Amino acid sequence: MKVVSIVGARPQLVKLAPIAAAFAATDHEHVIVHTGQHYDADLSDVFFSGLGIPDPDVHLGIGSGSHGVQTGRTLAALDPVLAAERPDWVLVYGDTNSTLAGALSAVKMHLPVAHLEAGLRSFNRRMPEEHNRVLTDHCADLLLAPTEEAVRHLATEGLAERVVLVGDVMVDVCLRVRDAVRAGGQPRPQLPEGIDPDAPYLLATLHRAENTDDPRRLGALVSALAELPVPVALLAHPRLLAKAEEHGIKLGGGALHVGRPLPYAGMVAAVLGSVGVVTDSGGLQKEAYLLDRPCTTLRPETEWVETLADDWNRLVPDPAALGRSAWAEVATRSRPAAGRGNPYGDGRAAQNVVRVLAEHVR
Ligand code: UD1
Repeated sequence: MKVVSIVGARPQLVKLAPIAAAFAATDHEHVIVHTGQHYDADLSDVFFSGLGIPDPDVHLGIGSGSHGVQTGRTLAALDPVLAAERPDWVLVYGDTNSTLAGALSAVKMHLPVAHLEAGLRSFNRRMPEEHNRVLTDHCADLLLAPTEEAVRHLATEGLAERVVLVGDVMVDVCLRVRDAVRAGGQPRPQLPEGIDPDAPYLLATLHRAENTDDPRRLGALVSALAELPVPVALLAHPRLLAKAEEHGIKLGGGALHVGRPLPYAGMVAAVLGSVGVVTDSGGLQKEAYLLDRPCTTLRPETEWVETLADDWNRLVPDPAALGRSAWAEVATRSRPAAGRGNPYGDGRAAQNVVRVLAEHVR
């Protein structure tokens, strides 16, 4: 079997790592196409080197642009690549513009498409990721769902026949890296200046378009982080830096300390060293859950609803509406006493993916 993986943005590289490793243990041919949606070393190269992913076989160098430009350029650039490769499966990951472009290019060429992380829904049509997911699921031939909840969403949309529950590949990589971090031999993560890694701190990220593009919203969220009673290590995505600069919003001050994005192992170590996480990232909500830290999510909804059980994750769309002391109490709440189940699988999702793809080759 020959499979072409199409990736482009940071979270897709994290998911690619266990998939590439699972393929490497078989005789199947695995071709990696990087669209170039993310091109900063912090968002791309360090994931290949840090997670032991083979270099991409093809790099499209698409870069940034409006949704139409980015998706359209990727679509056009993929056509000749897929025509030359003619794989048994095109595998697309998650919900970015690279995902949608990959799926569209493949279906139009009558190549079978499998969607990894199918069936996630926020039901928020203002999120670019929501369109990308829904459209990708509806054009894909095989829907690799991470959770029972995702399976239910797909069934509701009439797609039950194409669904296989495989578990969440992020568990595979997160737990493997956690064990490596705990075993030592990993350098200490580069936390922002002013954060003492041995004293309590919160780890924060903020990058979603819904939170960064409106100056008033971004300003309010930055102020809410700065007024917390515990130091906040904000690992700033380039989009956040670009938007803060555009809107004239100063990042930092008060509790807030701003640093660069971390490589994956550094991120896992930073979560393990923290007393909690504040984020709008889907992946980080789940990593906090898997790594035993309470998470506060700066959004009105989450796709990863399992994390909400027993207060492991709390949705706070508007910290200012809570009032200063209630906001501080939520963001710094201690770890719930309740344990968690295993809603994301047992850490062997990538092997399931490879097996299911092989079983479904036309
Ligand atoms: C994309 C995904 C989002 C995912 C996120 C993870 C879409 C619609 N969104 O959002 O779902 O959670 O990746 O990081 O696909 N930039 C750089 N360097 C880079 C990449 C981006 O400076 O290497 C800056 C540019 O100013 C760019 C902006 O970030 O315009 C946004 O990048 P883009 O890839 O469009 O979306 P993300 O916000 O990264």
